[in-house]
Amino acid sequence: MTKRVAILISGSGSNMVALAQSMTGDHPARPVLVISNDPQAGGLAKARALHIPTFAIDHKPFGKDRAAFEGALHQALVTAKVDIICLAGFMRILTADFVSKWEGCMLNIHPSLLPKYKGLETHARALAAGDKIHGCTVHEATAALDDGPILGQARIDIRPDDTAETLAARLLPLEHQLYPAVLRRFAAEDKTPVLLGH
Ligand code: GAR
Repeated sequence: MTKRVAILISGSGSNMVALAQSMTGDHPARPVLVISNDPQAGGLAKARALHIPTFAIDHKPFGKDRAAFEGALHQALVTAKVDIICLAGFMRILTADFVSKWEGCMLNIHPSLLPKYKGLETHARALAAGDKIHGCTVHEATAALDDGPILGQARIDIRPDDTAETLAARLLPLEHQLYPAVLRRFAAEDKTPVLLGH
């Protein structure tokens, strides 16, 4: 049966677009909902242009009440009968309670070669460490931040003149290859890691 995918974003949504555009033809999944915690997120208009239903749940009015915010999120996902959640630049930390409801069905993309550089500023941290190789990871989301079984990684060389900005810009097109490749396998219940680059 075709899997129903929700994509959660907070920003420009370029990974969301790559995922959504990949789900055609004999792909085992289809995008059914794009959710943002920021009503102004640029990705929402991109999703509408792709004719995907969108939903904004502004986290700000919920203040510190993460449970209430996540309750609204969970309800939207259940109502849309979602099978798989793709976190794609979704910049809210999810509680263990929420994650436990979707564990095994939720993927995340992170711009580092996990387990290195969980959290923010991944490109700057790879440069500061003198790394020669950088990359991105798609993994199953678990209660621990940027953790969980790795389903794919893409690698790029770090050049001597790289800055955090140039690294991010060169990595993003690889993210757009990696995430759809992993989702396709995952939706077909194949967890063999996808490895791109060298
Ligand atoms: C991507 O680079 C993604 O890897 C990163 O945010 C960006 C979102 O871009 N995610 C994280 O940092 C999650 N910890 P996009 O909105 O254009 O897809």
